[in-house]
Amino acid sequence: MWISFAGIITNYKDVKQFLVQKGHKFRSDTDTEIIAKLIKHIHGLHPNYSFRELVEQVIQQLEGAFALCFKSMHFPGEVVATRRGSPLLVGIKTKTKLATDHIPILYSKDSPEKVELKEHSKLKDHRPHGHEIPAHGLARSQSTSEFLPQGDNKEVEYFFASDASAIIEHTDRVIYLLDDDVASVEKEGVLKIHRLKRTLEDTHAREITTLKMEIQQIMKGNFSSFMQKEIFEQPESVVTTMRGRINFDSETVVLGGIKDYIGEIRRCRRLLLIACGTSYNSAIATRQLLEELTELPVMVDLASDFLDRNTPIFRDDVCFFISQSGETADTLMALRYCKQRGALIVGITNTVGSSICRESHCGVHINAGPEIGVASTKAYTSQIISLVMFALMVSEDRISAQPRRSEIIQGLRNLPDQIKEVLELDSKIQEISKKVFEKKSLLVLGRGYNYATCLEGALKIKEITYMHSEGILAGELKHGPLALVDKGMPIIMICTRDNVFVKCMNALQQVTAREGRPILICHKNDQEPQKYGSSVLEVPKTVDCLQGILTVIPLQLVSYHVAVLKGCNVDCPRNLAKSVTVE
Ligand code: UD1
Ligand code: MG
Repeated sequence: MWISFAGIITNYKDVKQFLVQKGHKFRSDTDTEIIAKLIKHIHGLHPNYSFRELVEQVIQQLEGAFALCFKSMHFPGEVVATRRGSPLLVGIKTKTKLATDHIPILYSKDSPEKVELKEHSKLKDHRPHGHEIPAHGLARSQSTSEFLPQGDNKEVEYFFASDASAIIEHTDRVIYLLDDDVASVEKEGVLKIHRLKRTLEDTHAREITTLKMEIQQIMKGNFSSFMQKEIFEQPESVVTTMRGRINFDSETVVLGGIKDYIGEIRRCRRLLLIACGTSYNSAIATRQLLEELTELPVMVDLASDFLDRNTPIFRDDVCFFISQSGETADTLMALRYCKQRGALIVGITNTVGSSICRESHCGVHINAGPEIGVASTKAYTSQIISLVMFALMVSEDRISAQPRRSEIIQGLRNLPDQIKEVLELDSKIQEISKKVFEKKSLLVLGRGYNYATCLEGALKIKEITYMHSEGILAGELKHGPLALVDKGMPIIMICTRDNVFVKCMNALQQVTAREGRPILICHKNDQEPQKYGSSVLEVPKTVDCLQGILTVIPLQLVSYHVAVLKGCNVDCPRNLAKSVTVE
C-alpha cells in the first residue's frame, strides 16, 4: 500500500486502539500508518470491495483535515484520491483536446453501510449491489467516456497534488476536488469522481479549469532549488507585500482587507496572534511593535498549544491567524474555536481563496508570490511586513506615535535595497557554512527584536540540515543554556545597536569567557562587538522593529548552504513532506 497524506487525523488514537485490538501491529507512531492499516483491515473483511469502495469506507472512519492518495498492489494500475478540509486537485494531461470540460459526479446509491469500529460490533458484509446513479440521469458508460481525449491518441496522464504550482510544469488543466469527493482512476485510465450521498447544494459535476499561472513565475530559473530562489526573491517580494498599501510620501498605510474593521479593532480587549512554525515566529517578531503602537495586550500562541489549553476567548478579542498556505490544520482549528466564541477573526495568508482566508472575517494577503520550498523564507519576511503595516494603520490617529510611524515607514522604503546588500554576503556565508556543517549542533543567540530571528534561524537549520539547532534568548543564558558553551560549541550571535545592545554585549562576554568564539551578525562597521567574533557578518542598520528582516536572511542562507554541503534535499526535507510508504 502506498499512501500520500497531507493533514491531520484527530481521532487516530481511537482508530489505532481498535486496530491493535484486532491484532494489527504498528511500525510507526504516525497517523499515516493507521490509514494504511485501516484499509487493510476493511479489505480483509470485505475482499470483494473495489479500491474506491474501500477508500470510501476508510474516510467515513476518519476525523480531521486531510488529503489522501492511495495506490495498492491489490489494485494494480489504479489510484484513488480524496480530501476533507485540505486542498487536493487533479491535473489532466492529454495529447489531444478533451471532449468536455466537466466531469459528472457518480453517486453510490446504496453505499456500503459504514463499518462500525467497535470491538463488539459484527462487521457484516454490507456490500451494495453496485448501483451507481450518475448525475443528469446519464448512463454510466456514457458519462464516463465523455471526458476521454478526442481522436486516436487516448493517452492520459493524471497528477494529484495539493497545490497547482506542483503540477504546472506538466499540465495547466486541473479539477479542484471538493470535501469528500472520491476520485478514482481505474485500469482503463478513466477518471471518475464519486460521492457517497447526493446533497442539494452539490453541482453534480466538477469543472476542468485552465490555470493562468505564469510558468516562469514559479520555475526555478538559475537557482539550484526553490528555497534558494525564494531567499533571493526577497528584495522583490517585500515590495509586492507593500505595493498599493503604503504611500511613502504622505506616510499613510491602508490595508484594503482590514480598513472596514479598524474601529472595532481599536476598541478590542486584546490581540491574539495564533500560528505554527515560521508563522508563529513572525508573530514573535512583531509582538513588541504591536504592543507599542496599539497599546493593547498582545498574546502570541502556538496553535496546537492554544487548542490544548481550552483558552478563554471573548467577543471583544481580535484573533489573528497566520499561515502561508492558509490551510495549516491546527491554525484552522484554532480559528474555528475562536470564531465560535464570537471573536473577530483576522487572517494573514499568502493564498487567496484558502480555508483561513474564507473562514476569517477579514485579513491581509501577504502577496509574497507562490512559495514552493517546504522551508518558508520569503513568506516569513512578508508576514512580518504585513503585521508591521497593520500596527502602523491602527496607530494612524495617535499624534504621539507620529515620529515613530514616520521612522518605520521610511525604514520600509529602504528595506529592498538593504536586503540586496545582505544577499551579497552569500559567498562569505558559504565559507562560514563549510566550518560548521560537520558539527553536531549550532546555537543561535540574541534578544529583543532579534529573538524571533534566533528562533526562525534555528528552525530553518533543523528543518533542512537535520542538525540540532536552538534559538536561545540571550537573557536566559545564565538560567541554563550557558552550560552548553565551550570552545567546541558552534554559536551564532546577533548583536545589533538597539535598546538591548548593552545586554547583548554582556551575554557575548559571558560566551567568550567560556572560550566560545561566536560567529557574529552585527551592524556594518560596528567595531565593538566584532572584536569578540570568530567571523563577522555585517548587515545594514534599519529601524529596530525591522532589523529582524535583515538579520534572518544570513541565517536562511546558512541553513541553505549547510544543507547543500550535507547533501540534503533542500526543497523537500525528510519527514516534513508527509509521504510514508507502508505495506
Ligand atoms: C485587493 C485585491 C487586489 C487589488 C486590490 C486593489 C484580491 C485578493 N485582492 O487587495 O488584487 O489589487 O484590492 O484595491 O482580490 N481576507 C480575508 N482573510 C485573509 C486574507 C484576506 O478575509 O486571510 C479578505 C480581506 O478582508 C479582503 C479580501 O480578502 O476582503 C482581499 O484581501 P487583500 O488581498 O489583502 O486586500 P487588498 O490589499 O485590498
Ligand atoms: Mg475572509
